[in-house]
Amino acid sequence: MGILSLNSSSIIPSNLLRVTQKSDWCPVRRQATVFCQGGGNVIKSSGVSSVLTERSSLGSTDHAATVMDAGSLVLSKNGKTQTEIVVKDLVPYGGATSTTLKGLEDAIGIVKFLKGKKFFITGATGFLAKVLIEKILRTEPDVDKIYLLIKAKNKQAAIKRMQNEIINTELFKCLRKTHGKSYQAFMLSKLVPVVGDICESNLGIEEELSNVIADEVDVIVNSAANTTFDESVWNLRYDTAININTRGPCRLMALAKKCKNLKLFLQISTAYVNGQRQGRIMERPFNIGETIARQNFLSKIPQKFLPTLDIEGEIKLSANYEANVEDNLLPQKMRELGLERARRYGWQDTYVFTKAMGEMMIDKLREDIPVVIIRPSVIESTFREPFPGWMEGNRMMDPIVLCYGKGQLTGFLVDPNGVLDVVPADMVVNATLAAMATHGMAQKPDINVYQIASSVVNPLVFQDLARLLYKHYSSSPCIDSKGRPIQVPLMKLFSSTEEFSDHLWRDALQRSGLTAMASSNQKVSQKLENICRKSVEQAKYLANIYEPYTFYGGRFDSSNTQRLMEIMSEEEKREFGFDVKGIDWEDYITNVHIPGLRRHVMKGRGMGG
Ligand SMILES: NC(=O)c1ccc[n+]([C@@H]2O[C@H](COP(=O)([O-])OP(=O)(O)OC[C@H]3O[C@@H](n4cnc5c(N)ncnc54)[C@H](OP(=O)(O)O)[C@@H]3O)[C@@H](O)[C@H]2O)c1
Repeated sequence: MGILSLNSSSIIPSNLLRVTQKSDWCPVRRQATVFCQGGGNVIKSSGVSSVLTERSSLGSTDHAATVMDAGSLVLSKNGKTQTEIVVKDLVPYGGATSTTLKGLEDAIGIVKFLKGKKFFITGATGFLAKVLIEKILRTEPDVDKIYLLIKAKNKQAAIKRMQNEIINTELFKCLRKTHGKSYQAFMLSKLVPVVGDICESNLGIEEELSNVIADEVDVIVNSAANTTFDESVWNLRYDTAININTRGPCRLMALAKKCKNLKLFLQISTAYVNGQRQGRIMERPFNIGETIARQNFLSKIPQKFLPTLDIEGEIKLSANYEANVEDNLLPQKMRELGLERARRYGWQDTYVFTKAMGEMMIDKLREDIPVVIIRPSVIESTFREPFPGWMEGNRMMDPIVLCYGKGQLTGFLVDPNGVLDVVPADMVVNATLAAMATHGMAQKPDINVYQIASSVVNPLVFQDLARLLYKHYSSSPCIDSKGRPIQVPLMKLFSSTEEFSDHLWRDALQRSGLTAMASSNQKVSQKLENICRKSVEQAKYLANIYEPYTFYGGRFDSSNTQRLMEIMSEEEKREFGFDVKGIDWEDYITNVHIPGLRRHVMKGRGMGG
């Protein structure tokens, strides 16, 4: 999922939070390196989940067809319960995957791989890529160069963005401390801003620089994406999403083909490219044109009645659609088109559908280029490095968390027994570096998928999350405009829209004092009723956006990622660890993530305790 930004009229007033603790994590230097310590069938039944198995043709990582038992865990949209889901019992959806990890020694050699390498990274001003850049520079200062693709009108503007959005940010404070006065010089000797746009041909990079990049670069990392929900995933335009998430990787692959020394093409995707797959979802690359709808309905509906996915056709459709729609209706129609196409083929929204098509196109175009696909689930604040709790943007579950803390949302529409798949940003980066070094050294012309996710190895269940939120805000409450602590009740979780709506009304009426005023002043009561109606509509709208995720029926297997960890040396495990299994959710949510959110996202506004 991506970012959900709430505007000022939404249910979060911007100045309500207050600063809690400051988390700090200081680096220590060791040797020359700086370390921080630190297919089944989907059956909609009336409320009971069940597991079906069937035979289906599935590809392994090298796409050799394997026939395996594939299962689907059935989640009833109406029943909305996952009580019966026990992960160890889940039948793998997608079959086992093979990797090229066999035969490696007792270390990957991550630092060794980074040394002297030249990178080309897109999405460098974004949340995740910044954590990646910081980690590379901190763990191997002898990396050669990192080219950063930045949208800007000219080089000066790109340098300014790099300074403001990367070099001078708090995230880099450990590096700043390590290099002291030479910090700026160090950073400018390593980071090279490249004016460009992933939506333009040749990535909008001027020819001379493009040739230099093609001559020099060892690893391409594509982290650019359109992740912004702009109010909701439903609002992502199909043409925009295709251009960035599907065609962007194609343009990058064209650059990759020109690179003389390229060792690896690494795509940051998302675990949710698995769309509406159910049950335990394996780390398997897509076959071109594959659809989730075809897999989910494999045995029920004859194949000829199911739509086939023609990506070139989708690109043309989105480009030509404009001609048939009036200008003023175009943005809305484009949003509806994306959603309609995504759902037709078995994905929940335009973002994940276009990202999935991006993966397919990479595989189609890669020829003998080694490719790694990283699929994180929901990325949240850093667990440990460079310091715990660093976060950027009001993402995924965070608007809900913040609204709840301010007493504006006391319930939500979610399967209480469902699982929220969350991973800390630094663990995603560490796993990415481990996969990068492994496959960058092996240089086999294959494609490997790594799901970095928690729902199988260490599931965070929604009702436990609600308890943790309550625990945090009870001990560190937000402060209202009069300086008083805001006491919040335990969040109520509703699995039916009707019950959730009733709750919202009751809650809004109670908070507005409307019941008491109703008889005294008709005009005031009408006004308050309108305010209540608006706030109820907003909460319902939020719940609607989240529904494909709060009732998600899939769990992301991460066997490949776990295996990566097994081949790391003990030292690598300490410095590049990503033991999602070992996360203590109570500690992470209450002491790391929410304080991080309040500090870095809310910038301490309205914070108390
Ligand atoms: N955040 C999550 O929870 C999450 C979860 C799973 C997967 N992912 C994936 O992880 C990657 C990074 O996500 P993120 O959270 O770091 O996203 P983010 O903070 O929204 O950053 C997106 C980056 O992409 C850049 N970008 C967008 N359009 C571009 C274009 N046309 N040309 C060049 N650059 C462009 C943005 O540049 P501007 O600053 O100029 O807009 C920004 O640097 C994405 O591929 C995303 O799909 C994210």
